Amino acid sequence: MSFKLPDLPYRQNELEPAISERTIQFHYGKHHQTYVNKTNDLIKGTEFENASLETIVKESEGSIFNNAAQVWNHNFYFGSLSPKGGGEPGNKIARAIERDFDSFTNFREEFSKAGATLFGSGWVWLVTDQAGALDIVQESNAGNPLHSGKIPLMTMDVWEHAYYLDYQNKRPDHIDAFWKIINWPLIGERYSEITG
Ligand SMILES: [Fe+2]
Repeated sequence: MSFKLPDLPYRQNELEPAISERTIQFHYGKHHQTYVNKTNDLIKGTEFENASLETIVKESEGSIFNNAAQVWNHNFYFGSLSPKGGGEPGNKIARAIERDFDSFTNFREEFSKAGATLFGSGWVWLVTDQAGALDIVQESNAGNPLHSGKIPLMTMDVWEHAYYLDYQNKRPDHIDAFWKIINWPLIGERYSEITG
C-alpha cells in the first residue's frame, strides 16, 4: 500500500495566531511529507508492503515503526485541530474528564505539564480503554499508544519542529496556544464511538 499526505481540514494560514502558516508549511509540507515518503520506501518488499497504516504502527519496530507512526501521529494531530477549536469539551467526554481528572481545569493542567516535562521529542496523548477510562500518556520520539493496546483520542506534538519557528525554545507558550485550536466536538465523537 502506498500512503499519501492527507489534505488538511483547513487552510494553512487558518490556525494563526496559534500556529503560523510558515510552521504548517514546514511541519505539514516538509516533515509530515517526508515521513510519508520514507514509510513508502521502507515497506517495499517487507511483510508490511500491503498492510494498513494502523497495522504497521501496531506491529512494526525500528525505522519502519518510527516513520509509519510519525505518519499516523501527524495525520491524527493535524486532523484534530480546527480554526474554530478551543473552549471546553461537552457531553459524554466532559463527564468522563470530570470523573477521571476531577475537573477540565485539572485535566488541562496535567496534560500541559506532561507536554512541558517530556524530555526531548515526543507526543502527549489522551487515551481511553474499551471501558472508557481516560489516561494521559507521554510517548518519546514516534511513540504511539496503539503500539501498547491503548486507544488514542487526542494528541499534542511537542517535537521542536512543531513550534520552534513560532515560539523558539518556549514550549509552554506553544502548549497554551494548542488549547485554542483543539477540535473538542471531534474528540468527543471519537470517545462516543468507542464507548457507545
Ligand atoms: Fe511533528
